[in-house]
Amino acid sequence: MIGKTLMSVGELKGRVALVTGAAKRIGRSIALGLACAGVDVIIHYNSSGAEAEAVKSELLSFGVNAEVLQADFSVDGEAERLIEAAFKLDNRLDLLVNSASIFPANTLGDITLSDLNTNMLVNAWAPFALSRSFAARVESGGIVNLLDSRITDFDYSHAAYHLSKHQLALLTRFSAMEFAPSVAVNGVAPGLVLPPVGYDGSAGSGYMERAAEGLPLKKHGAPEDVSEAVLFLLSSSFITGQIIYVDGGRHVREGING
Ligand SMILES: NC(=O)c1ccc[n+]([C@@H]2O[C@H](COP(=O)([O-])OP(=O)(O)OC[C@H]3O[C@@H](n4cnc5c(N)ncnc54)[C@H](OP(=O)(O)O)[C@@H]3O)[C@@H](O)[C@H]2O)c1
Repeated sequence: MIGKTLMSVGELKGRVALVTGAAKRIGRSIALGLACAGVDVIIHYNSSGAEAEAVKSELLSFGVNAEVLQADFSVDGEAERLIEAAFKLDNRLDLLVNSASIFPANTLGDITLSDLNTNMLVNAWAPFALSRSFAARVESGGIVNLLDSRITDFDYSHAAYHLSKHQLALLTRFSAMEFAPSVAVNGVAPGLVLPPVGYDGSAGSGYMERAAEGLPLKKHGAPEDVSEAVLFLLSSSFITGQIIYVDGGRHVREGING
């Protein structure tokens, strides 16, 4: 072998990860993927305490350690408090996955400053504040931010969310420079993976299939598609500032309305 390029996923074994928004949906899938790779996981949640405890039980069954921590990122200072609490649990943290997010509906026609501030606080500031506190404490580590493939066009019906994800994409590249060489910072930009909350029951019947028709690969993704990309980036020792689109090709098409 000529030098060492990529670590295998196996080399994640024994590390400790904090995954935000890990009680449900994509965050949960990332936590499960990490646990399968032998990573100890700290499950962050905001309001889904019971679900977070259920994920903890699942992770423990993989033979890794799992802990649960609560924080509300709409409150300034909570991100820093969460990192401190995470370090207190294990005395170490190697990996950070910023998956927690809000996705409220609003347009440029009705968006308020308060909408913008809340989305910026939860979706962009909290991941950055977590990353900065994390990078200040570790000798080496990896961060992955969950973005959105719509950052290549416009999400007209979630304007404040859209702006905050643009901010987070910029912060991903900016932080990659700022926190190098000790910490790698990358992004994963999912496309159509899970229906928005509220569209996942009978109310959203057929939503995913109809939306998938407009995608180049004509199918929607699964949470595992996202977690595989996250694990790949966390396993690499030579990738930083990169964004992987996990979106069935949506980012190469333009003009699909939100
Ligand atoms: N779903 C998709 O197809 C899709 C598409 C594009 C991008 N993404 C991105 O991928 C990531 C995961 O997506 P998802 O659909 O799984 O996310 P989600 O279900 O909308 O939200 C994930 C978690 O964020 C947490 N959260 C919400 N408000 C919070 C707050 N104020 N403080 C702390 N945590 C808070 C919630 O935790 P609690 O439940 O504990 O309150 C929630 O379970 C997100 O960043 C999202 O933007 C997803």
